[in-house]
Amino acid sequence: MAQGVTAGAFLAACRRQPVPHRPVWVMRQAGRYLPEYRAVRAKVDFETLTRTPELAAEVTLQPLRRFELDAAILFSDIMTPLQGMGVALDFAPGPHVREPIRTDAQVDALPALVPERDVPFVLDTIRLVRAGVPRGAPLIGFAGAPFTLLCYLVCGKPSKEFGPARTLLYAQPHTAERLLGRLAEAMGQYLAAQARAGAQALMLFESWAGLLAPREFTRFALPAVARTFAALRPLGVPLIYYANQGAALMPAVAGLDVDVVGVDWRCGLSEVRRMLGPGKAVQGNLDPAALFAPPAELKRHVDAVLEEAGEAPGHIFNLGHGIWPDTDPDAVARLVDYVHERR
Ligand code: CP3
Repeated sequence: MAQGVTAGAFLAACRRQPVPHRPVWVMRQAGRYLPEYRAVRAKVDFETLTRTPELAAEVTLQPLRRFELDAAILFSDIMTPLQGMGVALDFAPGPHVREPIRTDAQVDALPALVPERDVPFVLDTIRLVRAGVPRGAPLIGFAGAPFTLLCYLVCGKPSKEFGPARTLLYAQPHTAERLLGRLAEAMGQYLAAQARAGAQALMLFESWAGLLAPREFTRFALPAVARTFAALRPLGVPLIYYANQGAALMPAVAGLDVDVVGVDWRCGLSEVRRMLGPGKAVQGNLDPAALFAPPAELKRHVDAVLEEAGEAPGHIFNLGHGIWPDTDPDAVARLVDYVHERR
């Protein structure tokens, strides 16, 4: 594939401009399904990996060397900037916060994030990736959306229901708003620093959007996202909001000033586009389980996503959530090549 083709398609699709081919990348494309990632992880723990720019840049680039992906995504974690703010936590493999945050006093004690001082290794990783990325592929910077970060900070560990986090919204709504405000401010600073270091698009992961009723989503989660993005608008880079299990929230998301909305597979993209209106691009939304289908079957599932997305500009092909660690890398190669073949 010609250089400029891959380099331009992702950013053009974010801006709803016509593209020479459908751009594709894969959430969690750098990770344990790749033997070369496991080889690095055999030598260092996850945290060391995120804090060592040479290694983090190397694993960011691994999937782009193997597949003709249209974008790179920074290798880091949504909890990394919180560690920079002094929150003690362990990855096992999901994040476990040693002292969950549940009081106003704890919220007020959270310091502001100064990215250049607190997480310089993230910015150095971005510079290294930009210098070495194959085919001129653009680099996506990211952060956790404030409510999703709140889920881990309040609950203290991964959970299905995040009971303590949702309880906080109802029992101490002002504490919740205070914490969300702090996180919005910090993630705005964090993503702005990523853009200054060279990130060409900025994405907020709202992995736990689907836990909330539309009313609570609109009162708590969405204003914090809007505040984070408002700080980034002047930078001129495309902004992406991924709302996992967010189909029922799309009418609310339609009012958000964002370029691209990422969605899971539980709602067809035509319906998502109808709810969002013509002013937003969409990203998604193949079920990660579909990568386990036989090759001919996988093509039919890709066709179905493309058909739902429609012909209008503004679709970035992706999975609906992160790729599973037991996925065959050859299935990803077939996925990427087939998305590009289909015009
Ligand atoms: O390739 C990429 O997409 C970039 C890397 C990336 C990681 N985490 C690396 C990682 C990204 C974008 C994230 C974001 C992230 N982290 C999210 C939002 C996306 C989503 O999946 O919903 C969330 C909720 C987290 C929190 C987190 N960190 C969890 C739940 C886990 C355990 C994941 C698992 O699959 O077991 C982590 C650890 C983590 N972050 C790993 C990786 C590759 C596994 C660590 C290891 O190598 O042991």
